[in-house]
Amino acid sequence: MLQTKTLTQFLITHLVDKPDHTTLSLLLSDLATIGKVISQKTNSAGIAKILGSAGKTNVQDEDVQKLDILANDLCKEYLMQTGRLAALASEEEDAVVAMGDSGNLADYIIAFDPLDGSSNIDVNVSIGTIFSVYKRIPELDRMDEKQFLQKGKEQVLAGYILYGSSTVLVFSFGDGVHECTFDQGVGEFLLSNERISLPNTPTYYSVNECNVNCVREYDKKRMTWLRDESGLRSRYIGSLVADFHRNMIKGGVFMYPEIYKKKEDVYVGKLRLNYELNPMAFLIEQAGGMATDGKGNRILDIEPKALHQRSGFIVGNTNIVETLETYYTEE
Ligand code: AHG
Ligand code: MN
Ligand code: MN
Repeated sequence: MLQTKTLTQFLITHLVDKPDHTTLSLLLSDLATIGKVISQKTNSAGIAKILGSAGKTNVQDEDVQKLDILANDLCKEYLMQTGRLAALASEEEDAVVAMGDSGNLADYIIAFDPLDGSSNIDVNVSIGTIFSVYKRIPELDRMDEKQFLQKGKEQVLAGYILYGSSTVLVFSFGDGVHECTFDQGVGEFLLSNERISLPNTPTYYSVNECNVNCVREYDKKRMTWLRDESGLRSRYIGSLVADFHRNMIKGGVFMYPEIYKKKEDVYVGKLRLNYELNPMAFLIEQAGGMATDGKGNRILDIEPKALHQRSGFIVGNTNIVETLETYYTEE
């Protein structure tokens, strides 16, 4: 006897309250299918010889892994044939990608990180796929980059698929965060947590402490407070999706400050607003938490100026994020 709902059953119930979410629900079902395929590819990557570098760098100036390309191509090709999306932006694509003739009249656009945590692919550590869906701006051409410069609070669906000890799909339409776990035997995503809310008592902090000498003074003080005074335990996996998911379930904070780049003499963020920070910020707020850029700005209120814009990031339990924000000082 199946003890819980399948994702499909959950979406049918969801549609009763939100009859205008038909396309969005079908889109989430498409993303779940993509997640099943990437999960299967990830689990057999070593055998299928799709580990390691693809021998090229992407628009982020990062070494692209074979699985990055596989996941990116799979997402693009699968979503292209659904006709549910007008345009797509990806961490692995320099520019906006048209979603074919079938997408010409589609009402939605999607930004995604096809494979997050690429540095962990070859060492069998959890990785993920992150997605962020907006309504298309009707008066703009669907290929206009301004489609993807909407504030994060305009998202209509956001979530991630985490390929870990189990494969979980975590998502929100803006009315709570839901988690489904992939049941290999049934071949379906089954509802495993109807509504995730951040525990009141946080447990972990996640920051890459090797950066302590290339961050601003106030970020250095934040890292010291987290280590010496917060009472939190340190966990850092190096895959945003995995660190974020653990903190969603156990409570905690993840921080990635802007880092000083000597060559350009400038501080820059590592994580990308469109397909990492905005979807995660949307989810954490739906779970009762908070996400800022480390300079007192709510992530979801930031108006992006560029497709691949980066930002500093603090995300997690509101009381911890607010405490960390008190260290901010104007430059
Ligand atoms: P991606 O693999 O999509 O490029 O993302 C990697 C990101 C994120 O997953 C993680 O939090 C961060 O890079 C880790 O960066 P460091 O290795 O510099 O700590
Ligand atoms: Mn990423
Ligand atoms: Mn990536």
